[in-house]
Amino acid sequence: MNFDLAIIGGGPGGYTAADHAAKNGMSVVLFEADLLGGTCLNRGCIPTKALLHSSEAFHSFHSTPGVKAENVSYDFAAMHEYKANAVGTLRSGVEKLMKGDKVTVVNAFAHVTACSEQGVTVEAGGETYEAAHLIVASGSVPSVPPIEGSKLPGVYTSNDLLENGGKDLKSLIIIGGGVIGCECASIYLNLGAQVVILEALDHILPPMDREIAQRLTMFFKKRGASVNASCKVTAIEGEPGNMTVHYTDKAGKEQTCTGEGVLIATGRRANVVGIFPEGQGPESERGALVADEAGKTSIPSIYVIGDAKARNIQLAHVAEAQAKNAVAAILGHELPVDMNVVPSCIYTSPEIASVGLTEDECKAKGIAVKAKKLPTGANAKCVIEQSESGYVKIVTDAASGKLLGAQLVCPRATDLVSEFALAISHGMTAEQIASVIHPHPTFSELVSQVCEI
Ligand code: NAI
Repeated sequence: MNFDLAIIGGGPGGYTAADHAAKNGMSVVLFEADLLGGTCLNRGCIPTKALLHSSEAFHSFHSTPGVKAENVSYDFAAMHEYKANAVGTLRSGVEKLMKGDKVTVVNAFAHVTACSEQGVTVEAGGETYEAAHLIVASGSVPSVPPIEGSKLPGVYTSNDLLENGGKDLKSLIIIGGGVIGCECASIYLNLGAQVVILEALDHILPPMDREIAQRLTMFFKKRGASVNASCKVTAIEGEPGNMTVHYTDKAGKEQTCTGEGVLIATGRRANVVGIFPEGQGPESERGALVADEAGKTSIPSIYVIGDAKARNIQLAHVAEAQAKNAVAAILGHELPVDMNVVPSCIYTSPEIASVGLTEDECKAKGIAVKAKKLPTGANAKCVIEQSESGYVKIVTDAASGKLLGAQLVCPRATDLVSEFALAISHGMTAEQIASVIHPHPTFSELVSQVCEI
């Protein structure tokens, strides 16, 4: 069977590429060994947000002024059923999209048997497929460090907490205070569980501004979590329901903590194992495929997008943007998406978001900047909803006044950040944002308010 384009992986990168290619008149075959939707839809962004929704509602019973509710409880199985329904609804949307686009979806593991500048041969489910181009969108898998006991029952990855009914734990030790660690901490804290976070670096959420990490650490501690940075986990032992983690704390002292389960959330690694014949695939780096801005690898007929790409930001919206650019590059069009402005969002309570450069990054690059910071206590909606004391900070170029970056710790930060992304992408100044009327009272006023001060 001959196609213009073969795609390996049916996550946000893969199905977006298939949709764009098909809408541009290409014949497309998409290989997916598991379920359409990939990590994001089946065991990542979407299930965590569904569980956050339920767990936040549960928590709000205890924290909303004037609400008196006795014997409020949660039904863990029902929460997971609702999450599975939400995932199912969205997955069937992707299936319908592929059907409508007349994309041939092959539900089998695909491996390349031959590749050259002219195209690729792919085998899957006992059939052979030829295509002029291949996009590898095979995503990533949890990366588990070689800690003694890390394979024991009772030690989980985020997949285990999100799939097959999850784990109803009253206490959880989280190794790795990154995005997954912090979002899972929020879910379990909302449900009243005891949470311990053990982070190797000197603050949680290492790529984020240190100040954001300090705020989140404070919020977690207020909720009763134990947040430990600069610690080295040495061993895990025990059985499900009674696990012990041994670690060395930042003072070099040996410590232990106990919990019903242990989550390992120490990052994810590219998932390209078994796709190319030994020694024949594109150039790779630490197991991920190396590519240029458009996603083109060292073999010109092969592109890579999303988590399988080396030195990539592992985010669903980055994979989607790269999908649009890779398809455009294959078609010989200009790249449609600006990859210089990438918002990152963390769905903790309150939410966290960041886009563009931080003040420290500007200093390190020698860019003279002005920084403005607005505490959320100045916003009517934040006062009404009694949100935690967060802030919105912007960084502007001292000479031109153009917005270079924004960091937000506030309700709806993950939505508000897009206004800043748009402004940065189009070279707008803070004054230009402030000149646009923002409705009152709204969280969106945080955007205009910080630009006014
Ligand atoms: P991550 O890279 O965000 O965080 C891993 C953390 O584990 C780091 O803070 C690291 O210093 C720490 N760590 C590594 N080894 C350790 C050890 N032995 N002991 C203690 N700490 C250790 O990775 P994470 O959280 O697993 O997420 C994977 C990817 O998925 C990330 O790239 C993330 O951006 C993406 N993701 C994005 C979400 C979002 O956009 N809201 C949600 C969930 C995941």
